[in-house]
This record gives sequence, structure tokens and C-alpha cells, in this order.
Amino acid sequence: MKKIAVVGTGYVGLVTGTCFAETGNNVTCIDIDEKKVERLRNGEVPIYEPNLDVLFERNISAGRLTFTTSLSEGIKDAEIIFLALPTPPGEDGSADLSYILGVADELGKLITDYKVIVDKSTVPVGTAEKVTLAIAKNAKVDFAVVSNPEFLREGFAVSDFLKPDRVVIGTSDDRAKKVMESLYKPFVRQGNPIYFMDEKSAELTKYAANSFLATKITFMNEIANFCELVGADVDKVRIGIGSDSRIGKRFLFPGIGYGGSCFPKDVQALSKSGKENNFNFEILDAVMKVNQSQKTILFPKIKNFFRGDLKGKKIAIWGLAFKPDTDDIREAPALYLIDLLVDAGAEVIAYDPEAMSNVQRLYGSKIQFSSNEYEVLNNVDALVICTEWGIFRNPDFNRMKELMNDTVIFDGRNLFDLEEMTGKGFYYSSIGRTSIENK
Ligand SMILES: NC(=O)c1ccc[n+]([C@@H]2O[C@H](COP(=O)([O-])OP(=O)(O)OC[C@H]3O[C@@H](n4cnc5c(N)ncnc54)[C@H](O)[C@@H]3O)[C@@H](O)[C@H]2O)c1
Repeated sequence: MKKIAVVGTGYVGLVTGTCFAETGNNVTCIDIDEKKVERLRNGEVPIYEPNLDVLFERNISAGRLTFTTSLSEGIKDAEIIFLALPTPPGEDGSADLSYILGVADELGKLITDYKVIVDKSTVPVGTAEKVTLAIAKNAKVDFAVVSNPEFLREGFAVSDFLKPDRVVIGTSDDRAKKVMESLYKPFVRQGNPIYFMDEKSAELTKYAANSFLATKITFMNEIANFCELVGADVDKVRIGIGSDSRIGKRFLFPGIGYGGSCFPKDVQALSKSGKENNFNFEILDAVMKVNQSQKTILFPKIKNFFRGDLKGKKIAIWGLAFKPDTDDIREAPALYLIDLLVDAGAEVIAYDPEAMSNVQRLYGSKIQFSSNEYEVLNNVDALVICTEWGIFRNPDFNRMKELMNDTVIFDGRNLFDLEEMTGKGFYYSSIGRTSIENK
């Protein structure tokens, strides 16, 4: 049993804290957001993350998981302090380290015995050094700063954390290495590796992983766009290339671009890090440019379909979250498309199983919301699919036809087979495949 503090109780911090409690540790999660801490204390999970609630409740009841707004109280007895703080893009696109360095500054004043301080946030190369300096400025005791980037995916966060493909730990401190090794032991029992390395390599590993994945998606999106031009079917191409083990089957699905709180900011931050070191990540700059236009690639198609005039057209949206199984709408492609539709005079009504309240907070009455995937189709002139939630995959097409004013689907996630859609009575336009015109 170790005593652990987790500073920052968002998507990463809450999952990290809960999963460490689940393996028998005593965890205190700290957050400056008083309302969030209040909800957590009342046993409420403030985010939507599958399978988190069971672990959360179990560990609260067992007294292994507690919450506070006070940094000094939260870290008092902790041997290990995780920083799971935001690193949003600053104005110039580089990672804003003010949250991390602010807390590091405080920690220096508060620690009274040896602590292992672990950076779990995604940060540029050299941050461990900066954190060390910020703590050392005020600290009177020994401490180690470790870089331990997190690879969990929202929607699969609990299983990713409990069964990671690998754990990356960057440290040059032997004592900290031992502490981290024993902490992670329960998570690597199946032989999945813990890679120990220097702090800089660990920091870059996270950016390199996310940038590679963003590049892979973007590459497929460009192939999809080319498919449409030459009459090829991107699904066939995807299957054709994915069985090559050097390429792999995953992350080859084309769509309306990547979003979320990680890929966009991490690709941008790595590119910016490059520039700060007189290095041009040309590939990343291209990825960002292609993804930006991919997010709204459906807009010209929709506009053309309605002969250039969207005024008064009622458009339904299926899916607002940046991907399924999350309520996270940060950089969600759906929002970019909705902005253009509304600006063009369309009336937008949306349904998402989990993300509607987040969008409502942001958009107010700019768009309307509906309570299920059928109701949203009432009298609409078209349906646009933006997020591939499981419940959208197998709809009652006859019911849809009855509800819709015009049977038109723009599918940004290629949910349906072209064969299946042929003869169904819809105009069906997707990504990287020919449109079906048989309305
Ligand atoms: N979300 C993901 O899927 C994911 C995956 C891997 C890595 N990451 C990285 O992990 C980090 C955290 O991401 P997130 O998605 O959990 O962010 P988040 O915005 O969901 O959570 C951050 C939390 O930190 C709190 N906070 C801010 N300042 C604080 C302070 N001074 N003291 C205490 N708490 C404070 C906020 O109130 C918030 O609850 C980022 O660097 C991100 O890039 C995120």
C-alpha cells in the first residue's frame, strides 16, 4: 500500500486515482474546482467514462479514495504525487505549462520529506527539468521528478489504465525508479512492459505516439478524399492495406477528422517544440492543415446537395462528442460543421447520448437538442452523422424514412455498407465512397 496524491482530477487524474486505489493504495485526489470536488465527495462521477463508476464507488466506500481542494492537505502523507493537470495550447500553439509550474512552485514550499513527483500530463521535452527547478527553488528536502506519460483513451480509460500496452517511466533517480516499479507491478502482470528511460525520451514518446496516430488517420482521410475523385472505395482500400502487418488494421478508418483534447493540441505542441529548436516538422504542419479542412469536408457536399442554399433547411446531427463513449466535446469536428451550417442559415437539431449538456453550455440556444436518435429526425431535410456511437449503427431505416422530410444522409463516419444502403430509398453520401443517389 502506498499513499498517493493526484493533483488535477479530470479525465486522466480521476481514472489514475481510482485505478491506483483499486490496486490497494490510499489515494487523495486534489482539484481546485470546488464544485467538482463537492460532486466527487458526494459520490458523483463528473465525467462520462464507461466502467469508472463501479471502481469509483467501491474505493470510496473502502476509504481508499478521497477528495480535497487543498494541496497541502492532499499531499501531506503522500509518498508519490501525480500531476494530472491541463496542458492546453498557449496562444502560440505551444503547451501552456503554467498549471504544472504553478503547482510545482507550491509543492516546493509544502514538501517536508522525500517525494516522488510524477508528471502524468502531456508535456514538451525539458519539462521535467523545469518542474525540478520550480520545486527546488523553495524545497528544503530531497525529491525526484519523474515523467510518466499517460496513454489511456477516453471511452476505454479504465481498461487502458488497468491493462496498459506499456508503461513509460522517465527517471534518472534510482529510488524513484523502485517506487514506480512497485506501484505499477499489479498492472503489468500479463507481461506487458514497463519501459524505463530518461525523462526527455519519455516526454517525447507521448508526443511522438499521438502525432503518429494523428498522421495515420490524416493519411487515410487524404486517401479517402482521393478515392471519391477517382471512383475507388476507401473501405476496400483500407482492408487491402490493413492486413499488411507493417501497416496494421487499426486507425485506418476515414472520417471527418480527428478532434478531442489530445491529438490537436499535441500535434501542434510538437510542431511548435520543433520550431523552438530550429526544426521544421513539415509532416506535422501538413497533418494539421489537412485535418482542419477534413473537419468540415461534409459542408460543401451538403451545400451542393441543397443547390447552394441552406437557409431554413432543418438539419439533424447524430453525435456531438469528438468520438463515441465520451462526453468530451473539445475540438469535436461536429462543432466545426455545426458552426458553418448555422452561419449558412440552417436550423440545426442534435442528438448525442452523453455530450449534449456540454454543448448546450457552450452553444445555448444556437442549436436545438433532442432526446433520442429518432425524435431528432422529425421533419428534417437531412441527417448528418458526426460521431460513430454504437446505437447509430443499426437503425430502423423505415422509421427514419417516415420521420424525415427528405431522406438524405451525410455520413461522416461511414457507418453503413454501401450495399446495405442501395435500394433503401435514401440519398447517402459518406467519406471516400461513391454516393448512393436512389432516393
Ligand atoms: N484526456 C485524455 O484522454 C488524456 C490522455 C492522455 C494524456 N492526457 C493529458 O493529461 C493531462 C490532463 O488532461 P485531462 O484530459 O485529464 O484534463 P482535464 O481538463 O479533464 O482535467 C484537469 C483538471 O485539473 C484541474 N486543475 C487545474 N488547475 C489545478 C490546480 N492548480 N490544482 C489542482 N487541480 C487543478 C482542473 O480543475 C481539472 O479538473 C493533459 O496534459 C492531457 O494532455 C489526457
